[in-house]
Amino acid sequence: MRFHLETFDDPEQLARAAAAEILRCAKGAIAARGRFDWLLAGGRTPARTYRAVAADSAGEGAFWRNVHLYWGDERCVPHEQPESNYLVARQNLLDCVPVPPENIHAIAADLPDPSAAADRYDAVLPGRPDLVLLGMGEDGHVASLFPHSPALDQLRRRVVAVVGTKPPHQRITVTPPVLGAARQVLVLVSGVAKAEALRRVFADEGDFHDTPARLVRDAAWFVDREALADIRPPVRVL
Ligand code: 6PG
Repeated sequence: MRFHLETFDDPEQLARAAAAEILRCAKGAIAARGRFDWLLAGGRTPARTYRAVAADSAGEGAFWRNVHLYWGDERCVPHEQPESNYLVARQNLLDCVPVPPENIHAIAADLPDPSAAADRYDAVLPGRPDLVLLGMGEDGHVASLFPHSPALDQLRRRVVAVVGTKPPHQRITVTPPVLGAARQVLVLVSGVAKAEALRRVFADEGDFHDTPARLVRDAAWFVDREALADIRPPVRVL
């Protein structure tokens, strides 16, 4: 199996390339369908990429009017808390570009009932997102789909409340059908701490219940050299 794995010397080079790929994808979607539906990634890795996207597009008001932003997952904390995926995006992207507020579709993760928040979010989530941006955890999770989670076998609901192994534990996440419906998936992986999980993703044998990121092996993977430390041929790089 051939994989789309692009390697970069450091996190800054990875972020610049990821920003260029995101803007390429966006302009293609807008040209084809008049809008770009983008599910943002959680965690810290994408912050640099968000800043690079902002730097490369901050003056383009007409472009941002056609961009709609969502999240692949959210922690059930107030949006003002440092652990909030929404806050990371706000600080590194939303406050830096002229995206209209009505185009920002945050997960209402601070609602008292996470399942109700999941249902509310499902109602606004597009059927075929143009891009799902993901990071990957050291255990091989993506979004808040953690190893051995029942959400990994959820084929009916597109958004569910889960209890994850990485704190904050209460979370809301998209499920595998959303990842499968995306027109493009881009996964950003940086740092030696992710090397063992990345090896398990691209190993010939493996189960997505053990390594959920195997669900998106056919995605575009942008990784830095540290994260590739445990990958040996014959993983073929496009
Ligand atoms: C989350 C994320 C999660 C994240 C990975 C990597 O809310 O935690 O959505 O999937 O992308 O845990 O996180 P870092 O980029 O911080 O290493």
